[in-house]
Amino acid sequence: MVSLSPKSLQLIDILADGRFYSGAVLGEKLGVTRGAVWKLLKPLQDLDLEIHAVRGKGYQLSMAMELLDGQFILGALSSASRVNVSKIDVLSLVDSTNEYLKRQSPKKSGQLCLAEFQSHGKGRRGRNWVSPFGANLYLSMSWRFNKGIAGINGLSAAVALCLVEALEQVGFKQIVLKWPNDLFWENRKLGGVLIEITAEVVDSCFVIIGMGINVRMPVAAWRTIDQPAVDLATLRHGGHVSRNQLAVRIINQLIKGLILFDQQGFTPFYPLWLSRDMLCDQAVTVENAGVLIQGIARGIDQNGALLIETTQGRHKIVSGEVSIRSVSHDTVC
Ligand code: BTN
Repeated sequence: MVSLSPKSLQLIDILADGRFYSGAVLGEKLGVTRGAVWKLLKPLQDLDLEIHAVRGKGYQLSMAMELLDGQFILGALSSASRVNVSKIDVLSLVDSTNEYLKRQSPKKSGQLCLAEFQSHGKGRRGRNWVSPFGANLYLSMSWRFNKGIAGINGLSAAVALCLVEALEQVGFKQIVLKWPNDLFWENRKLGGVLIEITAEVVDSCFVIIGMGINVRMPVAAWRTIDQPAVDLATLRHGGHVSRNQLAVRIINQLIKGLILFDQQGFTPFYPLWLSRDMLCDQAVTVENAGVLIQGIARGIDQNGALLIETTQGRHKIVSGEVSIRSVSHDTVC
């Protein structure tokens, strides 16, 4: 697990504005010698922070960062959200925000965790989620549903829709969804959702909903992602995207969506998914536990299961990994 001294964290705070600071100025601000500044800079590289050192000018982060601000986020939430948020933790470093909430207690609701960096960010199907410092949004929330596990079919799709709506509110209009819960833009992955069930007791279940959105991926981090990906800064042609504002929109939309889902299940989300479904009428291969199914994706059902038309008829898929094949087919969806 990566750890940072309070002085290194203070150093990040100073450098976050993207300006040059000489070793002498940094030393003065931190109350340490110039040599000690250099030592404090070294561990920042383990967090994928790129630091330029220029003779005569000093040190500079390769890009300015808007650090997460828990006070701002809490203060900017809608009153409906605030009623449902019991705690918000904004961490500099964590293994995984999902794991962090799991450690708090399996039976909690309304706890939020955001982090600047995840050392073991988790993706679906045991994958790693690339989580460089201060670059993207890594957010998890615990929630209690007044229904058993069987009643939360479609939850991950509903959460992905909440993310799409939040992104639309801040100006990103062309995001589509790939079953079961991936956010895409032009065949490149922008974000994803990882839901973990932590407890089930009579007629209720507890989950941790984790989501990752690529906001401004550092250049070096792209190379470590194993599929075509994109970030919001690219969609905005390099323009600034406020992670704090985005977090507020996402939390508000998520809480609204979770309350609706608890009351009505996936039904109200179903038509919205169909309007955003990037797989519809595409020739696809679905892989699950080593079994491959090929066919044409025909949307999802009212429980969020993927519908595939094959030569043997229609299949409902509840879990699996979908890839698109490039062959011609009829349009139905
Ligand atoms: C996917 O594979 O598409 C799901 C990615 C989910 C990543 C998020 S980042 C915040 C939360 N913490 C984790 O370790 N994973 C999720």
